[in-house]
Amino acid sequence: MGDPEVGERNPRESFHPPAPRTRLPAQVRAAGCAPDRTMPVSPPLPCRGITTNPAFMMVHIDDHAVHRGHGVFDTLPMCNGHLYDLDHHLDRLADGCERVRVALPLSREEIRRVVLHTAAASKSMDGTVRLWVSAGRGDFSVSPRDCARACLYCAVVPGKPRGVDAEAGWRVVTSGLRQAPMNTVKSTNYLQNALAQMEAEDAGADTAVFTDAAGFVTEAPIMNLAIVTDAGELVFPPFDTTLPGTGARRLSELVRREVDERAFHALEGLSGVAERQFTVEEARAAAEVMLVGSTTGVIPVTAWDGAPIGDGTGGKITVALGALLRQDMDTPGDLHTEVPYGYLTAMRGL
Ligand SMILES: Cc1ncc(COP(=O)(O)O)c(C=O)c1O
Repeated sequence: MGDPEVGERNPRESFHPPAPRTRLPAQVRAAGCAPDRTMPVSPPLPCRGITTNPAFMMVHIDDHAVHRGHGVFDTLPMCNGHLYDLDHHLDRLADGCERVRVALPLSREEIRRVVLHTAAASKSMDGTVRLWVSAGRGDFSVSPRDCARACLYCAVVPGKPRGVDAEAGWRVVTSGLRQAPMNTVKSTNYLQNALAQMEAEDAGADTAVFTDAAGFVTEAPIMNLAIVTDAGELVFPPFDTTLPGTGARRLSELVRREVDERAFHALEGLSGVAERQFTVEEARAAAEVMLVGSTTGVIPVTAWDGAPIGDGTGGKITVALGALLRQDMDTPGDLHTEVPYGYLTAMRGL
């Protein structure tokens, strides 16, 4: 967990080893924590530091991310002690900040350090790293003009991501909501996404699929979507109509390489990858449909609006693409950044 407030000091100073165990202050006990619980925390709130007690992960009500949804976030996987594709997630965070007109509160290198040290403090080898940049704390008006500076928050959720049963596949429904144009920014306003997910769950499905104002398929509330055509082409909707997913980007790159080299035999039948618009009807008639995300991997879609996709068991190419992406995540390479556990935990190196 990390950094509720960013002040003037050198960010290096913030990341001290945890202080000796401290009694929980009264206001945290009042917030519902067990009265006899103790915790390592440094320094006291409000703070620039890392806490391993979720009760101390404070966000202020006057933060514009809270009361106006003015901010951006990003989520990336931590696999076997490495952060996967950190730089593309930081690129997207910086791009999103620019688009929502929030000046990053720290340099890219400093943000990288916050992420790595917070990941190390989790002492977990696998998990999900979540980052938020908000417009900052202001005066409750819609304008952020009174926000002194942006706030950066980072949380690490240890353990494997919530069980995604890729083998069983997912059933999707077309959302009745038309996706709003700001969907290409990972903003802290995911109201549409939450409502579409609830709509799917009400219909007994696993998730929903959005369409844009012209009726073309865009994406799911937290994943990109792709189809495999009868001609064996993997097709994503254009990334200027969806969130530019880092998982989809990497998968496209791997497919291009595999199609050229023909090394991954399970991908026989796949002729290439493309970006173009397609309708719900075209998607439902496709040979295969899949959902793609950096933290969820590749999930076969087995049914759409109650009708099976293909034979309803998940496509062969989809399963092979899932294995290809998984292999890339599990094999340390250029996209992997080792978590410096030794910094706080003496678990290993650095
Ligand atoms: C709306 C939306 N589309 C697509 C994605 C997939 O992005 P990534 O592959 O970078 O996880 C996400 C991720 O959370 C998302 O929220």
